[in-house]
Amino acid sequence: MKKKIFIILFLVIAILYGLGLWKLNSRDPLLQWDWSKIDTSQKKFPSDFVWGVASAAHQVEGGHQDINNFGWWEKQTKEDGQSTIKNNDKSGNACDHWNRYPEDIELMKSLNVDSYRFSVSWSKIMPKQGVYDTLALQHYVQVADSLLSKGITPMVTLHHFTHPLWFQDLGAFEKKENLKHFVNFSEVVYLALKDRVKQWCTINEPGVYMFDAYLSGMFPPGKDDPVLAAQVMENLMKAHVQVYQKIKSLPKGDQTEIGLVKNMMQMDAIGKYNIMDHFIKYFADNNYNEVVLNLLKTDEFDFYMPTMVERKTTITGASKSLDFIGLNYYSHYAFNFNGNIDESLEPIAYPGEVMTDMDYGMYPEGIYRAIKRISQIGVPIIITENGIADDKDDRRADFIDKYLYAVSKAIEDGYDVRGYYYWSLTDNFEWNLGYGERFGLYHVDFNTQKRTLKEGTKKYIEIINKAKSL
Ligand code: GCO
Repeated sequence: MKKKIFIILFLVIAILYGLGLWKLNSRDPLLQWDWSKIDTSQKKFPSDFVWGVASAAHQVEGGHQDINNFGWWEKQTKEDGQSTIKNNDKSGNACDHWNRYPEDIELMKSLNVDSYRFSVSWSKIMPKQGVYDTLALQHYVQVADSLLSKGITPMVTLHHFTHPLWFQDLGAFEKKENLKHFVNFSEVVYLALKDRVKQWCTINEPGVYMFDAYLSGMFPPGKDDPVLAAQVMENLMKAHVQVYQKIKSLPKGDQTEIGLVKNMMQMDAIGKYNIMDHFIKYFADNNYNEVVLNLLKTDEFDFYMPTMVERKTTITGASKSLDFIGLNYYSHYAFNFNGNIDESLEPIAYPGEVMTDMDYGMYPEGIYRAIKRISQIGVPIIITENGIADDKDDRRADFIDKYLYAVSKAIEDGYDVRGYYYWSLTDNFEWNLGYGERFGLYHVDFNTQKRTLKEGTKKYIEIINKAKSL
């Protein structure tokens, strides 16, 4: 009799365990392709597919060290006295893109790209609260005119991690009463560029900004406060909706295409049958990916970190605030529960993959997986960033070849992908990692500002030219 009860108990536990694994894994299951069986030359793209490159003001322009939140952050030190930026790097002149943009636009031309995604510097355009620098605005009008004169379409990002010091001092996105400043700034920029720029990204990677600025301590203001992080995330998404609605209400607003830029980083379990690994990755995915996807589908915002915070609200209009979704994709992370909860909450690279210079591996099929998941929002997809930190340039060609194969496969399978922007045109300032992470299609000698085409970049040129020749 006891034996029977034991067997029944074991079976019930096994079934519950299996159901739990299925539930935790079914939302976005691990995808792995056998690349030895794939002919990556079989890439097809629509004739109107948009080929581009991307950048961000703070990372490439120069001149931000004294005027924005990140320039302030670069001067701070951590508790151990070390600089907040690796190698004590400073953005400083960066790639001097503010002055060298005509030369850089020529470099884009030689890649045969159709479009350039760049962000505008709020701190240069509005150095003081309520004070506009018309010369800075005029600068971006000239950039847009230069691009258009070369047949390159501008796509503008309004917030790419950085904002003026005065906005940070007000509490930035911690306070909903501050959102009006970002909406106002967006309106001024839109009105200045409305005859030249049709595609707009409101906010770049709200989840990454929230996580790095309010949980991991890697971005300014360097806080670790889950309650505040939830508040910031809600306000960032409200800001996106308000900017979308504002621009649509302005002259020619109905002719714009406006999107949010979402970084998709899948969270996977190391142990296929380890339910603790799956638990951790499920909750990491909730906050990193699902919060935004669910909100953009349903207007329902639900930010939950077990035992720390739950913030639920309705953001009316969120599900009607996209003409496209910008997808930034790089790779996935994995989790391995080892008994030590702090260590287990640290994401790691998925084992067995060719590593990039960052802390994650090459995972080309991951962009197919990300496209599939983000397609559930139901709007056209533009890959607004994808690239590799590869200082030796010995993986870039393979990276480009395989990731673009995966994109072409997604299009072939019916997903509505409209364009692809490689990150980045030039090596640049990689935030708290400084200048050591070289993502550029062009190498930059930061002592001389000399740009040099990388060997691996020729694969991107080859694919673009072939796609345009068909
Ligand atoms: C990001 C940003 C870029 C990065 C790029 C490489 O995703 O963090 O959009 O500014 O430089 O993604 O990490």
